[in-house]
This record gives sequence, structure tokens and C-alpha cells, in this order.
Amino acid sequence: MTRKVTIRDLAEAAGVSVTTVSQILNGKGERFSLDTRRRVHQLQEEMGYVPDFNARNLIMKSAQTIGVLVPNLGNPFFSMFIRGVQETSRERHFIPLIFGANHDEQLESYYLEELIKRAVDGLIIASASITAEAIDNILKKNGIPYLLIDQNGGPSVDRVRINDEQGGQLAADHLVALGHQKIAVVMPDEPTQNLQIRLAGFKQRLAEHHIDLADSAVTHSEMTKLGGYQATKAVLAQHPTAVFAINDETALGLMRGLHEQGVSVPQDISVLGYDDIDLDEYVVPKLTTIHQPVVTMGQQATGLLINRIQDQRQAAQLVDLPVDLRERESTAPLK
Ligand code: RIB
Repeated sequence: MTRKVTIRDLAEAAGVSVTTVSQILNGKGERFSLDTRRRVHQLQEEMGYVPDFNARNLIMKSAQTIGVLVPNLGNPFFSMFIRGVQETSRERHFIPLIFGANHDEQLESYYLEELIKRAVDGLIIASASITAEAIDNILKKNGIPYLLIDQNGGPSVDRVRINDEQGGQLAADHLVALGHQKIAVVMPDEPTQNLQIRLAGFKQRLAEHHIDLADSAVTHSEMTKLGGYQATKAVLAQHPTAVFAINDETALGLMRGLHEQGVSVPQDISVLGYDDIDLDEYVVPKLTTIHQPVVTMGQQATGLLINRIQDQRQAAQLVDLPVDLRERESTAPLK
């Protein structure tokens, strides 16, 4: 069996010390001649030497690793978010460890603890069920940098903020402009803070148009395709001419349910989603939605977290990102 090439082998071949090789490969070899640096890099390539991260971690006290916890890997919103996380991690020489907890609180706590045990440098938590208490007890006490998505951790915590209020307003403006007044909403019964703001923006703009959204017009359902599908009958019981689904997955499930009930979208009922996931362009009719810049969210969240890991004393960082309406085929003027 072939033996793994070690830093010692490389140092011997290059005729320098192990420390010299280590400093050159870690980008700290300015004090060595160009000739020595080139020789070390060339031999590294020829011999196929891959640095041992465990040994490196002991010296550098960092695994250059971030943990990312999302509620549902099956939702394309989160796979697009992760694409952004991966891009920026790669640029900044970090590796993300990604976990989807399938909306299971216990699983989320398990992953969180395991990530901390494995000494990740920081965490991005895009999960609603991590309580402020858990954050205080586990993350703050251990001095682990973190960034929350969809929740406001307070003014001292770094944040990527999406304008959910404006998103709700744009949704209301669009449906009202099409002449709809009998509007229903589908959303979870324990919404995260961003969803509450989204709904508040929606209601407030409807009120400005003298349309009252009664509590009974809001159907509570899990924020998944199945949740949207299961909400169909309750939604139809409200006899709406338009529905605002709090995210695209819910909207897609609902459209399936409406189709099975012989209800045509948008001829009988307009359906408006939220997120702008890639599937929206591939369903019939194509889904009208509010676009969230989710890849940018992943990139920015990762950038802010790595800045924080590298300088824990800097002031809280805040990035604001806009939303906009993507008008497609699932909404239409009231007949
Ligand atoms: O689809 C996932 C939803 O959960 C998004 O709308 C996002 O904002 C989060 O709250």
C-alpha cells in the first residue's frame, strides 16, 4: 500500500526544513528566496502532497470551516442559498458543512452541537426553531460567531436583511391592481419574524386600498409543497379570487390542489408566490412571485460571517437587499 506523502518528505526533497515548507504553503514564506518558494510549490505538485488539515488546525487554531443549518434542503430556495454560500466560501478559502434538518427541532439542536464539537469557526443559521435561548446558551457562551437568516438577533448581531415589508406591499399592490378584493393567504401558524413582517406589509397595503384581510382569510399550513396542497380545501372555502402564498413551494402545492379540484389558475383564481425559485418557470402556468436575491443572500451571509471570524471586534455589519415582483402567468385581472 502506498504511503501518504508527508510534509517531511517534501521538506527533504526540497532540501529545507519542515517549518520552511509549512510557512511557504501557508502563504507566509515572503522571507524565503523566490527560488526556494518555487521549488517547494513545484515539488508539492510533483509529489502530490496534500496538507494534513488536522495538523494545520492545531497550529492555526482554525479549521477554516463554517457550519450552515437550513430547515429544508428539499426547497430550492435553500439550495440556491447554499450555492451562494459555497461560492463565497471557496473564494475566501473556507469550507461549508451543510445540514438540512427537515423542520425537525431536535435534529437541528443535534447538528448545532455536533458542528460546535467539531470546532467550526462560525455558523449560518437559517432555521426558525433555534430559540434565542439556545443561541445565548450555546453560541454566545462559546464565543462562536454566527449569523441568522430570517430572524433578527438584535442590533449587535451581523445581519443580511431582506425587505419583507416591501415584498408584502408589492404582493398586495399587484393583486389589487388586477382588481382582486377577495384575497386569501396561506402561511405557517408559527411564522418566523420575516414572514410576520411580510404579512404585515401585505395587510397594511391592502388596508390602504380599503381592503380588510380577515383572520379567517389566512389558512395556516406547513410551508412546503405538501402544506400548500393540503391547504386547498380551506382556501376554497373562503371563495377568494386571488391567493397570496407565503412562499413558492406553498404556491406550487396549492396550484396542484386547485387543479385537482377543477379550479383553473389564473382564470378562476390568481395565485401569487414568494421567493422566485427556479421551478416557477417550469410549471403551468408559470408562477408570478416576489423575487428574493437568494444566491446573493448566501454570498453576503458567508462574507459577513467570515469577516466576523477574522475580526471579532468590529461593529455589527448590516447588508440590505431588495425584492421585486416577477410577473408571470399565474395571476390575471379579475373577470
Ligand atoms: O421558502 C423559504 C422561505 O422561508 C422564504 O420565503 C424565506 O424568506 C424563508 O422565510
